[in-house]
Amino acid sequence: MIEANYLVIGSGIAGLTFSVKIAKRFPDRNVVIVTKGNEDESNTKYAQGGVAIVLNREKDSFKKHIEDTLIAGDGLCNEDVVEMVIKEGPNRLQELMIWGANFDVDSSGDFDLGKEGGHSEYRVVHHKDITGYEVERALLKRAHQLSNITILSHHFAIDLVTNHHIKNSEQKELSCYGAYVLDEKTGKIFTIIANNTLLATGGIGCVYGHTTNPVIATGDGIAMAYRAKAKIKDMEFVQFHPTALYEAKGESSFLISEAVRGFGAYLRNKSGYRFMPDYDKRAELASRDIVSQSIDNELKKSGETHVYLDCTHLNIDAFKKHFPNIYKACLEHHIDIKTDWIPVIPASHYLCGGIKVNKKGETTITNLFACGECSRTGLHGANRLASNSLLEALVYAHNIFKYHSKKEAKPFELVIPEWNDEGTIIPKEHVLVQHNLKQLQALMRDYVGIVRSNKRLKRAIKHLDLIYNEVEELYRESKITTSLCELRNMVNVAHLIIRQSLDRTENKGGYYNIDNVKK
Ligand code: FAD
Ligand code: SIN
Repeated sequence: MIEANYLVIGSGIAGLTFSVKIAKRFPDRNVVIVTKGNEDESNTKYAQGGVAIVLNREKDSFKKHIEDTLIAGDGLCNEDVVEMVIKEGPNRLQELMIWGANFDVDSSGDFDLGKEGGHSEYRVVHHKDITGYEVERALLKRAHQLSNITILSHHFAIDLVTNHHIKNSEQKELSCYGAYVLDEKTGKIFTIIANNTLLATGGIGCVYGHTTNPVIATGDGIAMAYRAKAKIKDMEFVQFHPTALYEAKGESSFLISEAVRGFGAYLRNKSGYRFMPDYDKRAELASRDIVSQSIDNELKKSGETHVYLDCTHLNIDAFKKHFPNIYKACLEHHIDIKTDWIPVIPASHYLCGGIKVNKKGETTITNLFACGECSRTGLHGANRLASNSLLEALVYAHNIFKYHSKKEAKPFELVIPEWNDEGTIIPKEHVLVQHNLKQLQALMRDYVGIVRSNKRLKRAIKHLDLIYNEVEELYRESKITTSLCELRNMVNVAHLIIRQSLDRTENKGGYYNIDNVKK
């Protein structure tokens, strides 16, 4: 059993930013970061395009960034939140740079700003095409310099500890007291008792087989919060990125950044026709929901498997300078962007919804906070504007820090029961987990994709119920493993996506159901 003033679950931009700030403010309090896999493995590490921040106040303005965010969110953003996040951007970037993160500048020393879909101005601060890698590197380095931060990597948070776990608890208000954690190397499960718990567990991309996300993106925090009875909102708004590299064999997840379209690349169908101007006057730089839905429509019309991104007309030396990683990845796939078009298709990329929080990052459970992609702040509405995610995580980590920076430390009073795994056995049938996972991902691809219908959603719920029962049975009988818990979490997340999709009767942003189209 470990006692922590602050338990942080997740070591991406959200978890690390909060940890670094609170540990510096209170050197006498301890921060325990629990993270599955290697400490740097996260969606953050793979972020390419950058961070959307208004820096050039001659050409750009907060007002324009706010407008672009609201338009992308299609009427469902919380306008106060949008304004607060965007206006905080420059301060948060400054802080990140003080901690050692580097961003590209042009020959005159000004930030080299990129552009992405839905942005009316150049405002995306970046580190080549590996912005997330640079941010993760700098934050981890800073976290290691603070002696009151302990990072437990290869540790998997299974479930939150709440009143429900405490026998004869008289407390009426639903509260969180920490989490049960699996040491992935020893298989031992122990309790971390915490005065404050922050869920910073990232996205859900792996619920779909074809995703730009790394394998850690299994929606664990959202599922844990849901089981603990926190409010979860806007789960129907799964964002599909228009341009993941297409591979005939297997399901490639490599992203071709939207900034490549901001740099001037065109989308073409197999016959070479540049189709985006037919769908939106912003053409390739329409917001992500529109570009993905347009590609989906083109593919349905033609029966083809993918479309193409054409960079052949661009300045190749400048391209290589801004996008060295994408250039290299294409060459590794035998695509020379000087002469070849890049085959691309949409892939699941980001979840606009998640654990409902207020401006202080508080969930509907006392002492439980959420930040980053697992949270639903109201910034993104029905569709996230490109490069607003890293920004949101930075701003909310700061807000949660500010809230805690005035609070007294509390004593650890409760006796929390240890994890009980009596009667469970070592799972011999790993094949069952793999099989259920494949079934789940196929179901989400076929019935809960870019374009949905009530019939497909209802069928999805029926099939999901079968998978749910099988997985729950395995979970009850087996000794806990990460892959089994992740599958259980993904089943919970899929359930939330489908149920909340069925509840939505109006198409908005990234949500498109053919039965909601007004005849
Ligand atoms: P993550 O960075 O995903 O971190 C989650 C952490 O939680 C990980 O450390 C994980 O291991 C840990 N974790 C999860 N579950 C558990 C558990 N049960 N127990 C213990 N630990 C757990 N956004 C932008 O704004 N700009 C971009 O340019 C951009 N490009 C992107 C490119 C790609 C390819 C991808 C995938 C995303 C991109 N995004 C971008 C989105 C952005 O990267 C993410 O939304 C953001 O990084 C999420 O940060 P986070 O801290 O919330 O989560
Ligand atoms: C990209 O670089 O295209 C991803 C940007 C984002 O997800 O915000």
